[in-house]
Amino acid sequence: MSHVLRAKDQRPPALVVAAGIEEAEGVRTTDAPAGNMIEFRGISKTYGASVALHGTDLAVRKGEFLSLLGPSGSGKSTILNIIAGAIAPTTGAVVLDGTDVSTVPPRDRGLGMVFQNYALLPHLNVFDNVAFPLRIRGLSKADIEQRVRNALERVGLVGYEHRKPREMSGGQQQRVGIARCIVYSPSVILMDEPLGALDKKLRDQLQGEIKRLHRELGTTLVYVTHDQEEALNLSDRVCLMNGGRIAQLGTPDELYFEPVSEFVADFVGESNLIDAVIQANGTVQFDDTRVMNVKNTEGHAVGTRVKVLVRPERIAVVDSSFGSPTASDANECTGTISQISFVGGMTRLELKLTSGRSLLVKTLSAPAVERAPLGQSLTVRWSARDTVVLKK
Ligand SMILES: Nc1ncnc2c1ncn2[C@@H]1O[C@H](COP(=O)(O)OP(=O)(O)O)[C@@H](O)[C@H]1O
Ligand SMILES: [Mg+2]
Repeated sequence: MSHVLRAKDQRPPALVVAAGIEEAEGVRTTDAPAGNMIEFRGISKTYGASVALHGTDLAVRKGEFLSLLGPSGSGKSTILNIIAGAIAPTTGAVVLDGTDVSTVPPRDRGLGMVFQNYALLPHLNVFDNVAFPLRIRGLSKADIEQRVRNALERVGLVGYEHRKPREMSGGQQQRVGIARCIVYSPSVILMDEPLGALDKKLRDQLQGEIKRLHRELGTTLVYVTHDQEEALNLSDRVCLMNGGRIAQLGTPDELYFEPVSEFVADFVGESNLIDAVIQANGTVQFDDTRVMNVKNTEGHAVGTRVKVLVRPERIAVVDSSFGSPTASDANECTGTISQISFVGGMTRLELKLTSGRSLLVKTLSAPAVERAPLGQSLTVRWSARDTVVLKK
């Protein structure tokens, strides 16, 4: 695939100011002024008695890549379509770049949209599909040609101008969909599961391209997906939805290492979630008698029942041949191997403790387990830093 990146000093002069296009430059810088591009103020959406979105406040920063992540039916598309103006909220106001757009029709909101099913016009070729939004806005022929060329360069489709959508692969069709979206330099790009219809390898490739495009354009991008890996990989921040409410909004790191609830810990990555009781400052008790050092106990009174999270790749197998010293705040357990598998260079094993509890362990290279039979006794260790008491 070839694409030509235009260096900043080669960017074309601002081209046109036409109806619906406030910004004609092909490139936006990423150092946009601080502030919010999109704000939800008390937005909710109900259909009869059923609530698609409970009262929600949400702010998307200028230039940010924000993913809306969550299971099917959790309200992701509802949020996206309320931003776009395709769905009218039941309560609340939508503010775009400081202006309340609640009563502004979709076409006048200056947004670009990319859909899972591409939504290309089948009887038009690639050039005309991409030119379509410019023609609606009445740009001149020369402007249209330059903008379409620039957009096709950005998605690596120069030379495909005369193809019809049906003569292209799914990945190529979605590139056309993306070109049609960026061609009029929208101030916000909305994507609803854009890679949902593609196979894994293409998805990975297009993820990289979408990330690069976002970097180049510096546009605020809101991206809907139910794939947690995709959300963590792409986003500056992730808004995890559950049942029409925000479960947590934060950086991928925060969601992964500091989930606020069992739902978040469970939805994002694999986890050991351990029922425990706060014993003292910095320690919890679990499995009746065992004590574990934890990162955080603030806000929890002694005796409170909590859930404690330990990510499986934060647990190390103790290997006598290395004789690693035990940190004073480390946690240590011994159990027997009840399951073991080797996946893509990782060893994934389940350890059965004497209490009956299972612990999931993932390790990159562990000489102690490489040829270990089921039933073998194994000691593992993890730091208090990686032992997180969930807030709720
Ligand atoms: N037009 C509609 N009429 C009734 N219920 C709807 C309608 N659109 C969406 N819903 C409901 O609202 C909830 C949220 O939907 P949606 O935002 O599309 O979820 P997601 O995109 O996360 O899969 C779902 O329970 C869905 O069934
Ligand atoms: Mg949806």
